[in-house]
Amino acid sequence: MIEQPLIRIICTSVHHNNTGRVADTLADALHANVHSPEEAKTLDVSESDLLGFGSGIYFGRHHQSLLQLVDSWPTRPCRVFIFSTAGLPFLRWFQHCALRRRLVRRGFEVVAEFCCRGWDTVGPLWFMGGINCKHPNAKDFANARAFALKIKDTIQKDH
Ligand SMILES: Cc1cc2nc3c(=O)[nH]c(=O)nc-3n(C[C@H](O)[C@H](O)[C@H](O)COP(=O)(O)O)c2cc1C
Repeated sequence: MIEQPLIRIICTSVHHNNTGRVADTLADALHANVHSPEEAKTLDVSESDLLGFGSGIYFGRHHQSLLQLVDSWPTRPCRVFIFSTAGLPFLRWFQHCALRRRLVRRGFEVVAEFCCRGWDTVGPLWFMGGINCKHPNAKDFANARAFALKIKDTIQKDH
């Protein structure tokens, strides 16, 4: 019997559940479970082959609860991927910086990153219906799925 790699996704999605729906797509493709940062505090993640971390982007970074979770963990050499939805996804490299830096500092190996557009009604954007209406859409979910399958391939080759 082929042993499935143990993959967990830790996600919080507080604005419109944009990232939550992307997390479900990734979890489905990877046969992974999705946990909140709160649940992840009590999880034994040391046996995981791969961890995914994701949230919306709020003021240029991932959600505070994810950043605090990583800060509270001991150093562990495990592979991870980062994902997000954002009003301005083309700023992905910069907006993932705070989380990426923390993960690297804790000994994680960041193997892949994904970001797509998410419906954004922050502040005055609310009055015009927001930006990125209807995102993530079917194409975003298809891209997320392709991203997940690519990582799965890499993990399975090494497993
Ligand atoms: C308080 C707040 C701050 C935000 N700041 C940013 C930002 O700095 N950069 C960006 O690209 N999007 C920003 N956004 C847009 C969100 O990242 C986007 O709507 C995301 O899809 C929300 O994900 P969620 O529904 O999973 O919470 C912000 C949204 C909110 C509510």
